[in-house]
Amino acid sequence: MTGLPWDASYRDGPAPWDTGRPQPAIMRAAARGGFAGAVLDVGCGTGENALHVASLGWPVLGVDVAETALAIARAKAAERGIAAEFAAADALHLERLGRRFETVLDCGLFHTFGGDERLAYVASLASVTERAGTLYVLCFSDRGPDAGPHPVSQEELRAAFSPGDGWQVAAIEPDRVQTRYHEDGAPAWLATIKRI
Ligand SMILES: C[S@@+](CC[C@H](N)C(=O)[O-])C[C@H]1O[C@@H](n2cnc3c(N)ncnc32)[C@H](O)[C@@H]1O
Repeated sequence: MTGLPWDASYRDGPAPWDTGRPQPAIMRAAARGGFAGAVLDVGCGTGENALHVASLGWPVLGVDVAETALAIARAKAAERGIAAEFAAADALHLERLGRRFETVLDCGLFHTFGGDERLAYVASLASVTERAGTLYVLCFSDRGPDAGPHPVSQEELRAAFSPGDGWQVAAIEPDRVQTRYHEDGAPAWLATIKRI
C-alpha cells in the first residue's frame, strides 16, 4: 500500500490541511444537490467532508492509508452520532473494495500524485464509480498568488480525466481549499467529472 508515511502527519497534532471543518466547496456542492447514492471519500483524512455528507443522509465510506486519521474519523463519527464508515484502503487499488459508488469525492489527494501514479489513480477511480456517477476533485490550482503545494492546471485535469479513459469533465470552477496556514484558503479547482 502506498502512502504509509502519511500516517506520521496525523500523529502529532492536526496536519496542515486538517482544519477540523468540511471544505466550504464541498458543502456548497452538497447544498446544491450534487451528491447522490452511495458516496466514497478517497483520502478522507480525519473525515470532516465524509461526515458532513453523511450528516445529510447519504451512505458514506471514507478510505485512507493513514490509520491514525481513520481512528480520529471513527471517533468523531461516534461522538457526533453520525453513521459513516471508515476503512483502510489504497487509492491506487480501489477495485479491491469490491464496491461501486454513485458519488466519489477527492479532496486534496489527486494533486499529490504525478506521472504513472496519476494514471493508476484515475483508472482506480473509474473501477469504483458507477456509469453516470459524479466525481468531485478539489485540488490546489495554478492560478493566483499563494498557491498550495503541487498546484494543478485545468489542462492537467482535462488530460487526466479524458473520454478515452471513461470520463467527461462537466465543469472546472475556481474555488478555495481551506488549510491551517492560509488565512483565506489557497486557490483551488473544484472539478465536476462524470463517469461515462
Ligand atoms: C491532503 S490530505 C487530505 C485529507 C482530507 N481529504 C481532507 O480534506 O482533510 C490527503 C490524504 O490522502 C491520504 N492518502 C495519500 N495517499 C493515499 C493512498 N494511496 N490511498 C489512500 N489515501 C491516501 C493521506 O493519508 C491524507 O489523509
